[in-house]
Amino acid sequence: MTSARSVDRSRSAAGRRGLPAWQALARHADEQQGVTVRSLFDQDPDRTRDLAFETCGMYVDFSKHRITRTTLRLLLDLAQQCEVTQRRDAMFAGEKINVSEQRAVLHVALRAPRDAVITVDGHNVVPGVHRVLDRMADFSRRVRSGEWTGHTGRRIHTVINIGIGGSDLGPRMAYQALLPYAGPQLSARFVSNVDGADFVTATADLDPAETLFIVSSKSWHTLETLTNARAARQWILDAFGSDTAAVAKHFVAVSTNAEGVAEFGIDPQNMFGFWDWVGGRYSMDSAVGLSLMLAIGPDQFTELLAGFHELDEHFRTTRPEHNIPLLMGLLEVWYNNFLGAQTQAVLPYSHYLEHLPSYLQQLEMESNGKHVTLAGHHVDYQTGQIIWGQPGTNGQHAFYQLLHQGTKLVPADFIGVAEPLSKLTEQHDLLLANMFAQAEALAFGRSEDQLREAGVPEEQIPHRVCEGNRPSTTVLLDRLSPRRLGSLIALYEHKVFIEGVIWDIDSFDQWGVELGKILATTITDELIADNPPALAHDSSTNELIRRYRAARNRPI
Ligand code: F6P
Repeated sequence: MTSARSVDRSRSAAGRRGLPAWQALARHADEQQGVTVRSLFDQDPDRTRDLAFETCGMYVDFSKHRITRTTLRLLLDLAQQCEVTQRRDAMFAGEKINVSEQRAVLHVALRAPRDAVITVDGHNVVPGVHRVLDRMADFSRRVRSGEWTGHTGRRIHTVINIGIGGSDLGPRMAYQALLPYAGPQLSARFVSNVDGADFVTATADLDPAETLFIVSSKSWHTLETLTNARAARQWILDAFGSDTAAVAKHFVAVSTNAEGVAEFGIDPQNMFGFWDWVGGRYSMDSAVGLSLMLAIGPDQFTELLAGFHELDEHFRTTRPEHNIPLLMGLLEVWYNNFLGAQTQAVLPYSHYLEHLPSYLQQLEMESNGKHVTLAGHHVDYQTGQIIWGQPGTNGQHAFYQLLHQGTKLVPADFIGVAEPLSKLTEQHDLLLANMFAQAEALAFGRSEDQLREAGVPEEQIPHRVCEGNRPSTTVLLDRLSPRRLGSLIALYEHKVFIEGVIWDIDSFDQWGVELGKILATTITDELIADNPPALAHDSSTNELIRRYRAARNRPI
């Protein structure tokens, strides 16, 4: 018998796997066995002409994938049968497509032009978005110009964003990506981990008189953030003889929870709001980006938003065959559901994009790591791909061996920038040469014959063969500017959306992370109790708690 709370696996049978396009793709995947990227290029040497696309200063090459025209046609059929364009339009129209929380999903409104009209429950949300952006810009100008000072009248030199997940990864990634646009007078740091070492190392060399904290939390309930915010408050009070007036000059908040912010002691005048229709992992272009705006200035932040919007328009208006995020999402479905890939590598060939893989991990895995459909039925197919990666060329000397000669299928995204941003421009040539070479080597490998021709000793040949046929997308940006970064992030946001629609899941909730949070609250009490607590966990957890208590000299 199925309990009321458990999910019904039987009812999903006629779902996605029953669609004609899904079944045709499954047959097609069988027929395609033995077809390699090399054989596809041999048959059609100019296939890049049809399989590379350009928008928003980005050249996106899909030709090194295990796809034919038929594969693409069937994937587009699947998109059509899953009604992706209708779902996309519903998102842009402010419909409550986050069904488990009954919320609209409108990160696209965060970068809509001032005169756009996007309504939720009959109310145009765009003027509110621009009111907050204007306040952020005004505040940023005051801090950057030195008009806003710390408690002792000294200018602010360091901004520390305290937040986690969506309230950390976006601004952290974008700050690093846009470092060349940040002026020397103000730098940003990021504290996220509840491990006190994070706060201590971030503040070790700082002068409280010149430090401003931005506490970012959509819910204002997040343990890590509130704990670090309290540590920061104490750090400021310790520096200013417990004068609570200092808090107003050294703390601002970003949240949707005005009451929580006021209760914490931050002046609501110093709070920048956003809305429940912005998911945490989709919020870097809301007030959550305040640390970034402070670092790069309001004008560059406006450019970032323009880049997001430009890609939104591409996604909203381009027909499916040329719609880049849509095609990217479909390719991931192809590998995930029909070719058995479990993971997807993200390999930025840009030091500035160092934090992109971590950012995309949350975007993709918190969005699409779901096991039930929108209607609450258990899926009978794979969902969310595992995202991982590191900037090139470091990864080449760590894990690329497995990509080239291992037994697992790992589709990869190579992301590079044509225009160098560092002064060492010859090194940029080396960097990009490596990116192109890796994608080529993965796709085409090196055969026994080629090795023999090159005079490789016979006994080494099996060890040195690279089979190739390892698929990848190459994204080449003309430059890494705020505008381009906005477009790049929007590209991934919409790709994730497409996957979620095909998998028929709610990409905008994250109930799975709640259980661990609840258990941690109970266990914290058990770890710190003065007397030995009555433990009612499993034997493994009970023992770990006892051992920790013993190590901290607490009675067990
Ligand atoms: O990890 C769960 C989560 O709720 C994320 O979705 C979110 O980005 C993060 O915690 C931080 O939440 P908040 O911004 O509410 O502090």
